[in-house]
Amino acid sequence: MRLLEALNRVSLGQYTLLEKEIIGSQYCRLVFLAPSVAGAAQPGQFVMIYPPNAGVQKILPRPFSIFAADRETGQLTVFFRIIGTGTALLSLSEPGTELKIMGPLGKGFPVPPAGSLLVAGGIGMAPLVFLAASVKVELNFIYGVANSEQFSCPLDYINQPNLVLHEVTEDGSRGELGSAVDLFRRLLPRAEAVFACGPRTMLEIVARDCLDSGVAAWVSLEERMACGIGACRGCAVMTKNGYQRVCSDGPVFPVEEVFFHGRT
Ligand SMILES: Cc1cc2nc3c(=O)[nH]c(=O)nc-3n(C[C@H](O)[C@H](O)[C@H](O)COP(=O)(O)OP(=O)(O)OC[C@H]3O[C@@H](n4cnc5c(N)ncnc54)[C@H](O)[C@@H]3O)c2cc1C
Ligand code: FES
Repeated sequence: MRLLEALNRVSLGQYTLLEKEIIGSQYCRLVFLAPSVAGAAQPGQFVMIYPPNAGVQKILPRPFSIFAADRETGQLTVFFRIIGTGTALLSLSEPGTELKIMGPLGKGFPVPPAGSLLVAGGIGMAPLVFLAASVKVELNFIYGVANSEQFSCPLDYINQPNLVLHEVTEDGSRGELGSAVDLFRRLLPRAEAVFACGPRTMLEIVARDCLDSGVAAWVSLEERMACGIGACRGCAVMTKNGYQRVCSDGPVFPVEEVFFHGRT
C-alpha cells in the first residue's frame, strides 16, 4: 500500500541522454532532456536512475543528487563518481540513449541567506552546486578533496559573481593545503548559515560546531537506497524524531535532528 501511494506521487519516465562528459578517470556528467523533472527540481533533491541492462544483469536504480536543472530548456544534469557496476554502466551510455529516471525525489535545502557557507567534501559538491546556482546572494563555497586528481572542477559549470570558491586538497596539490573541515572552522564565525554534503565524519564535525556556535545548518545525508520513495525503509537513520527515511524525509536534515555517533 505504502509503495503504491509513494509511486503515485512521483514521476517516472524515459528521458533522452543529450550529453555525456567523462572527466578524468573518475567522474561522469550526464545531461538529459527531462522537462518534467527539471521543471520541478529543488536544490538538494535527487533522482533515481536505472542503469541500462547489461545482458541478464538487472540492477536497482541508483540515487544521484540533481547537479543542475534548467526549467527553460528542460535539461537535467547529474555529476557522479564512477565507483561500481551501476555508475560504470551509466558512464558507458551514449547520447541518444533513453534511460528511466524517477524524480525529483526527497526534501531539499531551504533558501540560503546572504553570507551562507556551503561545505562540500568530494562528490558531495553535487547538490551544493545546484543550491549555489539557485540564488543570487553572496556565498562562500568550500570544496575539499584528497588531491588534485580527485578534483572535478564542479564550479566550471557555474560561473557566478555571487560565489567565493575556496579550494582545498589534503596534499596541497591544488588550492590550500588542508581539509574542508579546516577551512570550515576558519570561516564559520562569519557564516550566516551552513549547508553541507560529504563524508559522514565531515558532516558530524560540521553539525557539532554549528550547534555549539548557534549557527543554523543543514546536512544532506547519503545512505544505500533500494526504492528511493519511502517504501522499503532500507535507508532509515535514527534522528531525534525517531527513525526517518533519508529518501523521503531527507536527504536534507537540519543538524539538530540528526544523531551521528556522539551527542549530535
Ligand atoms: C541521495 C543521494 C544522492 C547521491 N548523489 C550522488 C551524486 O550526486 N554523485 C555521486 O557520485 N554519488 C552520489 N550518490 C552516491 C551514489 O548513489 C553511489 O555512488 C552509487 O549508487 C554507486 O552505485 P554503483 O552501482 O556504481 O556502486 P556499487 O557497486 O553499488 O557500490 C560500489 C561501492 O560504493 C559503495 N556505495 C554505493 N552506494 C553508496 C552510498 N550511497 N553511500 C556510501 N557508499 C556507497 C558500496 O558500498 C561499494 O563499496 C548519492 C547517494 C544518495 C543516497
Ligand atoms: S530507499 Fe526505500 S525507504 Fe528509502
